[in-house]
Amino acid sequence: MYAKGEVSYQPLALPDRVQLDDAASLKAVNAFRDYMRKRHSVRRFATRPVAEQVIAACIAAAGTAPSGANHQPWHFVAVADPALKVRIREGAEEEEREFYSGGAGDEWLAALEPIGTGVHKPHLTDAPWLIVVFAQRYGVTTDGTRYKNYYVPESVGIATGMLITAIHHAGLVCLEHTPNPMKFLGPLLGRPAHEKPVMILPVGYPAPDATVPAVAKRKKPLSEIMTVFRG
Ligand SMILES: Cc1cc2nc3c(=O)[nH]c(=O)nc-3n(C[C@H](O)[C@H](O)[C@H](O)COP(=O)(O)O)c2cc1C
Repeated sequence: MYAKGEVSYQPLALPDRVQLDDAASLKAVNAFRDYMRKRHSVRRFATRPVAEQVIAACIAAAGTAPSGANHQPWHFVAVADPALKVRIREGAEEEEREFYSGGAGDEWLAALEPIGTGVHKPHLTDAPWLIVVFAQRYGVTTDGTRYKNYYVPESVGIATGMLITAIHHAGLVCLEHTPNPMKFLGPLLGRPAHEKPVMILPVGYPAPDATVPAVAKRKKPLSEIMTVFRG
């Protein structure tokens, strides 16, 4: 990260400008929406490998995300090491045993019933890659000075959404896995204490017998998620 004194306001003419007319714009966004409808959270993975360069490119796409004061308060750890994946699975399943045996509470467990999730997490060892997303509570410059980060959950959420979109664009699938709690991940992956793990994304190809829960296809209609005030 650049040191604060190193940078000051300097306007640049809008780089890389893309200009479409309304018709081209609508065509492009309809095609994008249709492609995004083919994204599904997948819980059964093939063990087929994925090149590291593909994973790195997906993370680089996530790294273009907007963030509070451009502080980019995120770090992504990509794990292909089978022994480390086993340790992550053990840690996650330990938390999930607590969670599903009552820690979650009745309402949460009832909400998860239509999704069909449970204690066993084979995706954590079957998927060729696990990307663990960390949120940085504060930043540290190259000279060791701490600086405050702003809108951390919002910024990391946007970057993670872009990562999931990049993974889909690359023809791969992933799962947003959030064992609760997941503080075991920081020490296991050698991350500093000021970084909070927010999600594990197993990434790869779906198993031939992969399914999705029917309820996941039930997205709210546009009329329910959009309000318009016309000019
Ligand atoms: C913040 C967040 C946490 C999630 N945690 C889990 C999880 O721990 N385990 C799981 O199987 N799915 C998890 N999911 C996936 C959701 O169940 C899934 O997105 C939802 O059912 C809709 O399905 P879709 O992603 O295929 O559209 C999570 C999703 C989000 C956004």
